Amino acid sequence: MSRPKIAPSLLAADFGNLQRDVEMVNESLADWHHIDVMDGIFVPNISYGMPVIKAIQKHATKPLDMHLMIVEPDRYIKAFANLGAHVLTVHYEACNHLHRTLQAIKSEGMLAGVALNPHTSVSLLEDTINDIDLVCLMSVNPGFGGQSFIENTYDKLTALKELIQKKGTHTLIEIDGGVTDANAKKLVDYGADVLVAGSFVFKAQDPTATIAHLASITNS
Ligand code: DX5
Ligand code: ZN
Repeated sequence: MSRPKIAPSLLAADFGNLQRDVEMVNESLADWHHIDVMDGIFVPNISYGMPVIKAIQKHATKPLDMHLMIVEPDRYIKAFANLGAHVLTVHYEACNHLHRTLQAIKSEGMLAGVALNPHTSVSLLEDTINDIDLVCLMSVNPGFGGQSFIENTYDKLTALKELIQKKGTHTLIEIDGGVTDANAKKLVDYGADVLVAGSFVFKAQDPTATIAHLASITNS
């Protein structure tokens, strides 16, 4: 297995110094830039939209991992492809025709991701897992950074790993929400391939060293 990926969530960045924070990620041991898009409808918060993502894209040198917490994501698939998304993740709960949405994402040349809210069972992916490049298990209720990790995530990770093995797919498992150095290693041991970390990285005194620390504990 390749080394687990670290994806700092720019939601916790200092937006007054966005270029500086994006460049910090560029120069760190992080693998992806995680970009949270919230519409105030699917989740009770609004984050940022196209102009801000364009500014991030201008400075980012690592793949962009875009997490859409929006209703009717199909309307924006092309727009996010044009913004340079490497992975485009939609929420299971926001898609009436998930299979069609996944094909549309892939036809634009992006990896197709599906995020599951904490209440959404992994078993619901039984019939689509073959078409999914990445499953994002939400380990907090989406909408805000800085929340506490939900412990039931480990059981979901186990179920997802079993499903992926049963179907023989190469789907990556991403964990998003409340990731810190207290749970990172255990998550990787349970099968996580990508760890998203917002507050733990950006609220640290030394974000670069914090990313290096997460990389080292998950790689041992
Ligand atoms: C939550 C977002 C997360 C969030 C993670 O809705 O999807 O990506 O930024 O933030 P922390 O790591 O602070 O929980
Ligand atoms: Zn996210």
